[in-house]
Amino acid sequence: MIVLGIETSCDETATAVCRSGSIISSHIRSQAIHEKYGGVIPEIASREHERYLNNMVSDTLKDAGISKEELEGIAVTQGPGLSGTLITGVCFAKGLSLGMGLPIIGVNHLEAHIFANFLADPTLEFPFVCLLVSGGHTQLWYVKNINNYQLMGESRDDAAGEAFDKGARILGLAYPGGPEIEKLSKGGNPNAVKFPRAMMKKNNLEFSFSGLKTSLLYYMDEQKNANLKDVAASYQQAIIDVLITKLKWALAETDCHSCVIAGGVAANQSLRQGTKRRLSGEKVLYPDLSLCTDNAAMIAYLGELYLEKGKQSEIDFPILPNMKLA
Ligand code: KG4
Ligand code: ZN
Repeated sequence: MIVLGIETSCDETATAVCRSGSIISSHIRSQAIHEKYGGVIPEIASREHERYLNNMVSDTLKDAGISKEELEGIAVTQGPGLSGTLITGVCFAKGLSLGMGLPIIGVNHLEAHIFANFLADPTLEFPFVCLLVSGGHTQLWYVKNINNYQLMGESRDDAAGEAFDKGARILGLAYPGGPEIEKLSKGGNPNAVKFPRAMMKKNNLEFSFSGLKTSLLYYMDEQKNANLKDVAASYQQAIIDVLITKLKWALAETDCHSCVIAGGVAANQSLRQGTKRRLSGEKVLYPDLSLCTDNAAMIAYLGELYLEKGKQSEIDFPILPNMKLA
């Protein structure tokens, strides 16, 4: 099947074409305009999607070497995400579906992040544990099969990506904060500042990052001549330590020996290396960098899987800004 994927849940406009489980073209346009505001402005994000989507679909099809008429289905992010940006993508996809007489499927963005790992390694097998770490979510999932997911634990407050973004703002860095903190951390001492690790009672799979951000704020207030490299490296380490420890506990609880890391924070090299090192006996997978942050390849891939199974959405399906996975 040849499926066009469309992703507009936040500030990345993305389009991709998947054919029989392989991505043959994928385009991502990150909206740099939000940098100057230090965060995503929903109304601007919607307008940017609206402005670029049509041309991006044309370019993606051209790159794939296929015409619109060859498409056999459309997959679009239904949620979770920002209402306005989701509406922009879903309305565009519905128009295409109606105009071309193509089946359409609304895809769960979180589920797509998990399935991006099958693009990274097609030999991945169920069951596995997924650490889903993005700007809006920090969750541990026991992935038993497609459409069979058990939530093992999640953040009580800020998501890990949010902790990076808010920490970066305190340190005077640009948005999105994750890559900025990672860059500044290079060469810094991750043990220089003892930032707190919350909810570390053995086998507790819940997370909390809001206290960490507050302690960074206090630290920066008190230490006027702080070594920023050391502070960034220590802050990053505090987030990563917790993530890896809880992933390890989750694996032990399920008796699973394979795990994947999904979502934007999975792009972090220290998290990737640390996980490999501390879970050396287990199979650890994470997608290519371009598949960790928001993209349409994962939407097209998962959409094709469902369409192949005969599942599709009614044309009047709603957007679901708070869409859950299970
Ligand atoms: O999955 P994603 O692209 O969008 C959401 O669905 O939220 O994740 C975005 C988040 C942001 O908070 C960003 O700071 C974080 O992922 N991120 C990183 C890195 N690259 C992106 N965090 C840490 N290190 C990175 N290299
Ligand atoms: Zn995402």
